[in-house]
Amino acid sequence: MTETAPGTTDASRRVRREIVSFVRRSNRMRPPQRRAWQQYRDGLVIDVPRLDTSTSVHPDSAVDLDREFGRQAPLIVEIGPGTGESLVPMARARPECNILAFEVYPPAIARLLGALVTQQVPNVRIVAADAVSGLTHLLPERSLDELWTFFPDPWPKSRHFKRRLVQPAFVDLVASRLKYRARWRLATDWAGYAEAIRTLLDDHPGLVAQHDHEWAARWEGRPLTRFEQRGLAAGRAVFDLTYRRVS
Ligand SMILES: C[S@@+](CC[C@H](N)C(=O)[O-])C[C@H]1O[C@@H](n2cnc3c(N)ncnc32)[C@H](O)[C@@H]1O
Repeated sequence: MTETAPGTTDASRRVRREIVSFVRRSNRMRPPQRRAWQQYRDGLVIDVPRLDTSTSVHPDSAVDLDREFGRQAPLIVEIGPGTGESLVPMARARPECNILAFEVYPPAIARLLGALVTQQVPNVRIVAADAVSGLTHLLPERSLDELWTFFPDPWPKSRHFKRRLVQPAFVDLVASRLKYRARWRLATDWAGYAEAIRTLLDDHPGLVAQHDHEWAARWEGRPLTRFEQRGLAAGRAVFDLTYRRVS
């Protein structure tokens, strides 16, 4: 499948590969992480062909999710689960759903794999790639029942705003992948990013806010993670947003 994000040109694809929403960190793993990666990746990490970097997805890639999950079921995608501190309990609470996670940091994926296996959570598969490439090249339009984006890297300095994941082209991409009525749930502890996201999503003709107030109530389905606790301890408020795809 070779789908292209709406409005994507060769030039913008080049830019997208260079400006990514994550820091390219060392992939070195500690011995327990390496063991978890080696023991558990088969069957849980979906291999994809790469284009130019280890986090890219080749435009000619295809993935058969029914085969990867061993069944047909509603599809939830999470972008950036980190070690899975919230993903693992959320997946366990939804055995009826297939959950596909895009994460770029292999040491975190190794810990996620260990947690999935020891806690016997069978309904998660992982693609070790940039979610922008993954959504663009692996998932067809109108294929997601829900998307989770919790605590995306905030890039708080204005000279780094261009690195934020939630940008106009990304919102178009997400809107194109959500099924009609599907939800996009987000949370961030950076007020400026929360406001920028809300403006972008409010202005998108294919998305409608699910909250009457400025922000959504904290989603009770989202476990409190150490990451969120650190933000709260530093005096930052947490902002939840929930939107639905409309036609
Ligand atoms: C700030 S952490 C939040 C982790 C987790 N969601 C939580 O709430 O604890 C952001 C995560 O997103 C991942 N990430 C950032 N940009 C990404 C992208 N474009 N595709 C996939 N993962 C990404 C990072 O590697 C990191 O694990």
